Amino acid sequence: CGIIGYVGPRNAQNVLVDALRRMEYRGYDSAGIAVEADDGLVWRKKAGKLTNLEAELAEHPVPESHLGIGHTRWATHGAPTDANAHPHVSADGRVALIHNGIIENFAPLRAELEAQGVAFLSQTDSEVAAQLVAREIAGGAGLADAMRAVSRRLEGAFTLVAIDAHDPDLLVASRRNSPLVMGVGEGEMFVASDVAAFIEFTREAVEMGQDVVVEVRRDGWRGTDFEGNEVEGKPYHVDWDLSAAEKGGYDWFMRKEIYEQPQAVSDTLLGRFDADRQLTLDEIRIAPAELRSIDKIVIVACGTAYYAGLVAKYAIEHWTRVPCEVEIASEFRYRDPIITPRTLVVTISQSGETADTLMAVRHAREQGAKVIAICNTNGSTIPRESDAVIYTHAGPEIGVASTKGFLTQVTACYLLGLYLAQVRGTKFGDEIATIMAELETMPAKIQQVLDGTEDLHALARELHQVPSVLFLGRHVGYPVALEGALKLKEIAYLHAEGFPAGELKHGPIALVEEGIPVFVVVPPQGRDQLHDKVISNIQEVRARGARTIVLVEEGDAEVEPYADKLIRLPKASTLLQPLLATVPLQIFACEVATLLGHDVDQPRNLAKSVTVE
Ligand code: G6P
Repeated sequence: CGIIGYVGPRNAQNVLVDALRRMEYRGYDSAGIAVEADDGLVWRKKAGKLTNLEAELAEHPVPESHLGIGHTRWATHGAPTDANAHPHVSADGRVALIHNGIIENFAPLRAELEAQGVAFLSQTDSEVAAQLVAREIAGGAGLADAMRAVSRRLEGAFTLVAIDAHDPDLLVASRRNSPLVMGVGEGEMFVASDVAAFIEFTREAVEMGQDVVVEVRRDGWRGTDFEGNEVEGKPYHVDWDLSAAEKGGYDWFMRKEIYEQPQAVSDTLLGRFDADRQLTLDEIRIAPAELRSIDKIVIVACGTAYYAGLVAKYAIEHWTRVPCEVEIASEFRYRDPIITPRTLVVTISQSGETADTLMAVRHAREQGAKVIAICNTNGSTIPRESDAVIYTHAGPEIGVASTKGFLTQVTACYLLGLYLAQVRGTKFGDEIATIMAELETMPAKIQQVLDGTEDLHALARELHQVPSVLFLGRHVGYPVALEGALKLKEIAYLHAEGFPAGELKHGPIALVEEGIPVFVVVPPQGRDQLHDKVISNIQEVRARGARTIVLVEEGDAEVEPYADKLIRLPKASTLLQPLLATVPLQIFACEVATLLGHDVDQPRNLAKSVTVE
């Protein structure tokens, strides 16, 4: 969910709706605002996208006000309806509250309130917090004390922001394990889930710790823990500009982000070599001696980031000879994994807020492991709670389906692998320099792929109505196949599966029937027998009627007889090929989804930043 609170001289409605628009990628099941007016609180909320709320506000504007809160929701408890939209207003109309997260003990709390005669208006866990705060206030507490008292009773993850009809200059926010950042303007203040909400108004932000309540007035703020002891925040300056968060001429954020990939990858690589051509990752705060003592690497992540981890395994093991496992964060966390102080855990997360990944970080650290985060979002929770971080520097990614996030994660994984190889001495300086030099050519090659996409548009027109698509690859081509299939599922809602090409004959080949499109990623020629094995796999599916779409490097003529359609890739070494082979699959999915009339940036049932487990 996205949350915003405002207090200051501007008309609150405008600030809130603007902020919600910039945070809509955080959730878009419903949206709402509440403001303080002369005769009490006034609120509007609507199921569906923000435009529904905007239409409602156009018809029934709220009065001019200088204090308000707004929310855009990704449903956890209760369907996305008007009633379940936030803000939740207490039965006596005195308190309005918004919530991001999940209150795990909401059922007993709700039962307790209902036994006292409180009538609930929604099915949400969030309303319980609103009613509890109102009960504290009815008992004589001020809003901040009420929020502290209620926060002490809640279990789970939450950011809450509340206003009280009797105090027109006060916002109170409380947080545990959900995002919260404060914006400090001149005579005005903001609280929000992320800085995109307020960078139009101020670039001065304050990062708050966990288990904190902040009381915010237009001329300042005060932070305490849940017991009321003063706590400090950490001020910082935001240097993302607003235009970076806007679409810039493309029909979708996703398409814009696909086309930003050459720049994004080159930003990830920027400044990693020092004057002596030694690879330096200045965000790594783990001593080389400790990195030398590592006997196992475990990569944990979710979704696309998990596939980046699968690519990383091939590179890291090849370069460092340290065993490397890759696991989905939500599986890793709850299976009692073998983690010791000699394990290096690497988490990958674009947003840095994915709850499944965050819980894996905490679990790993509790077992004494060191954790390195690969992340795109400065100041987010996962890097803050890790021992070290490599930022991918891709800029904001708004499209829910990750694209430049993926390519920059893969790039950062290569950097980490090379750095470990350097520190552990498994690769010599000149070998590392050679691989780095090749990495530095990749942005231009990605651009070459982007410049030759005309055919993909025609291919999408031909295939957009098929019932199912398969993707095959071996070695690092296998995670590329998985990612190609995931992109189609996420945005085109098409049934798609990725398989290791050699495994197909052990079962999935039964799915192959006349005309089914099968994308195959072919590794560069000349590496072991991998290339030839994949060509045999292409023949296996083609013999059974598949329509083969083959991604292969320039100049490789061997596959031509078996390809119904060829997608040519610039030459690259096997390990780096995913940076090129993924790109046509992203564009294909984007085209298919566009032709099918779907909202590419905000696919159904998904959210960009999933802050619940
Ligand atoms: C969500 C998104 C996916 C994304 C995953 C991991 O489920 O819909 O596209 O890959 O989260 O996100 P992260 O921010 O941790 O990389």
